[in-house]
Amino acid sequence: MLATGRQVLQKANKGNYAVGAFNINNMEFLQAIVSAAEKMKSPVMIATSEGAIKYAGLCLLKNMVYCAAENAKVPVVLHLDHGRDMDVIKKCIDIGYTSVMIDASHLEYDANIKTTKQVVQWACRKGVSVEAELGTIGGVEEKISARKIIYTDPEKAVDFVERTGIDSLAVAIGTSHGAYKFAGAARLNLNVLKEIKKKLDMPLVLHGASGLPAKVVQRAKRNGVRLGKAEGVPDSQISQAVRLGINKINTDTDLRIAFTSVIRESFRKNPAEFDPRHYLGPAKEFVQEVVEHRIGVFGGRGKA
Ligand code: G3H
Ligand code: 13P
Ligand code: ZN
Repeated sequence: MLATGRQVLQKANKGNYAVGAFNINNMEFLQAIVSAAEKMKSPVMIATSEGAIKYAGLCLLKNMVYCAAENAKVPVVLHLDHGRDMDVIKKCIDIGYTSVMIDASHLEYDANIKTTKQVVQWACRKGVSVEAELGTIGGVEEKISARKIIYTDPEKAVDFVERTGIDSLAVAIGTSHGAYKFAGAARLNLNVLKEIKKKLDMPLVLHGASGLPAKVVQRAKRNGVRLGKAEGVPDSQISQAVRLGINKINTDTDLRIAFTSVIRESFRKNPAEFDPRHYLGPAKEFVQEVVEHRIGVFGGRGKA
């Protein structure tokens, strides 16, 4: 069933677990994620970035997720990930997204508040939930190393939430997007998280949370994916972050690598194969396995 971000995240906040938000660009990822959520009896959020919308089209993505949600036995949220273009955000709200993220974290503090407030106003009218971001979550595209991450200031976070009226807050506690997250020890700043949650009893979000598990990385490397010193957030750190109040966890990179590794493996082992279902099918199964594992780590099993 289709659900709003607010519905699943407020429950997660009360129950002290996290809902997985997994990125999709196509049908196979959607099927894998929803199947995993059903198997784990967990609510789930389907995240589409602006890039995903550009790639697949807003209407197609929306209808595909609506169809999957209507048939699913668990709550499914349709979420816009890292909305920066106000036009895209407005379109997502109007077409029926049930959750949007406004990512104005790159702007000055007051401009972040002003932009976020505008989105909250639009979203309110349609009952759509809003996530916003304060601090800097690193990203490979910006070549920001983990050490340059600006942690979310707990005092500012309280002011930000009061002035914007958002439903959930993405915090910067040392993660970064992509496959190379840590230059040194793979550690999150859990003290900052503790401080924020003490001041704000509301759903908190962790971006850049992929684990780069050995099983996925090794399979990818065996099949020729050049991954160098790939390093993710260990499951133990994720569990601690959940215990300390993270209620939504974003994962994209793990799924991309899992999917790609199986396709490469299929091509390598079966060069005569050209029926896409014969390599997309197994790739989908591996993505599902990765999602199931992560939902388990998030404490989401049985929470639907
Ligand atoms: O955080 C970003 C997500 O991994 C989506 O990435 O903008 O390449 O679709 P994308
Ligand atoms: P990863 O790159 O760690 O999977 O993070 C994804 C994310 O935060 C999407 O918003
Ligand atoms: Zn993100």
